[in-house]
Amino acid sequence: MPVGAPREAVCDKNTEQTGSPAHHNCPVSRATWAFAGRLRPKRAAVPACPYRCICIHTLSCCIQMTLPGSPFLAYQGADLKLDDVSLRDLAHEHGSPLYVYSRRSMLAALAPYQRALVGRPHLVCYAVKANSNLAVLQVFAKAGCGFDIVSEGELARVLAAGGEPGKVVFSGVGKTRSEIKMALEAGVRCFNVESTAELEVISAVATQVGQTAKVSLRVNPDVDAGTHPYISTGLKGNKFGVAHELALSTYKRAATLPGIKVVGIDCHIGSQITEVSPYLDALDRVLDLVEAIELAGIPIHHMDLGGGLGITYTDETPPTADALIGALLAKIDARGHGHRELVFEPGRSLVGNAGVMLTEVLFLKPGEQKNFCIVDAGMNDLMRPALYEAYMGIVNTQTRAGDTSQWDVVGPVCESGDWLGRDRDLNVQAGDVLAVLSAGAYGMTMASNYNTRGRAAELMVDGDQVWVVREREAVADLFKLEKLLPN
Ligand SMILES: Cc1ncc(COP(=O)(O)O)c(C=O)c1O
Repeated sequence: MPVGAPREAVCDKNTEQTGSPAHHNCPVSRATWAFAGRLRPKRAAVPACPYRCICIHTLSCCIQMTLPGSPFLAYQGADLKLDDVSLRDLAHEHGSPLYVYSRRSMLAALAPYQRALVGRPHLVCYAVKANSNLAVLQVFAKAGCGFDIVSEGELARVLAAGGEPGKVVFSGVGKTRSEIKMALEAGVRCFNVESTAELEVISAVATQVGQTAKVSLRVNPDVDAGTHPYISTGLKGNKFGVAHELALSTYKRAATLPGIKVVGIDCHIGSQITEVSPYLDALDRVLDLVEAIELAGIPIHHMDLGGGLGITYTDETPPTADALIGALLAKIDARGHGHRELVFEPGRSLVGNAGVMLTEVLFLKPGEQKNFCIVDAGMNDLMRPALYEAYMGIVNTQTRAGDTSQWDVVGPVCESGDWLGRDRDLNVQAGDVLAVLSAGAYGMTMASNYNTRGRAAELMVDGDQVWVVREREAVADLFKLEKLLPN
């Protein structure tokens, strides 16, 4: 069940009678609705239901529980608002496609991490890859976060946003020599090393520049995180990390290398994880290793348990961050490791539901087999559906009276994979602004210029305040680095 207070919007689309369940999921929108027989319908006073809800009771009365992103994202009357700002108004003023993020929502997502770790040595390192806009990084830097980076570009962003290099962990399976040098010179806190070969290169570069690189090995615990294969990282068949069986010998090697100081151990098993158990399995494997490594005389100061906590896109029910960390701490304490500093690298769970992508409906194209709702955002703007067949909620930013129809919401890019949502029940007209929900993570950071399309603008809201945090790319920006051949 998504978190947040129920919003008392009454569904007035429920015209079939299918029993009296206490609650139900709309099979099309997959939004959760709860039946509330105690309420009498007040149809005149309420906006139209944005979904086609087919759970019907004789009282014809349902309460819409939440949208992903609630309570910061919610209908107020017929208008979808993020914080106190009408999303339709934003699209009209700033154009579309448009990403909009809520600062309050991001800080609210961080709070349970911080709460759960109070009184423990810890560092929450926001995973920059999820959303690397400078203003987003600034919000987390000001909130005391460190950062998990995977490139010199991400390091430069963190520094530009006011992040402290001493709170940066450098992950990634393919760090170049120049990236390693830059990170050493900036004074990052730790390299999360993914292979023996990388260890040797870091040692060589550090020796060359007369520095000591602090390292932890990213170990691959061979645990199935139960997530999409493209975002699973902790299995033997994945390219990530040092195999569990090789970890001890690699630590022994690290301890002998010049320019290297072992400070920790690291593990990240995947993304959009909605269960606690894979984390606990991985933790057991990591703790076994820590004990073996320390027995070999190599002290381990911190344990980095990675990121990966999932969010609600539709009907997923991931644990809250504090519940997850509580379960991890119980195991850590029970096995006598409570003194160690803990590092986490959350990305999606801090920003995913803090953002939406707005897109205007260009044309409606009803067909014999499919109805297409053609919008001005495509796979280049938001790649998750095309890349992972990911489900993302799509709603109209202004509810309309009348019936819904089923639409495939597709973009203008010349690929059949260019879709944002399939078989969505929407009451929609050309010119409407749709909101693609849960778009704060792996949205803009994965955007491209395919089809020579400029990337979207980005806004940050807080209450009724709005800031443009990235201008829309102009067409001239797209080929300014290109050159014609001489005649
Ligand atoms: C090493 C590492 N840390 C942290 C993350 C962040 O994961 P998530 O956004 O799922 O929290 C990732 C992303 O896959 C990652 O590769």
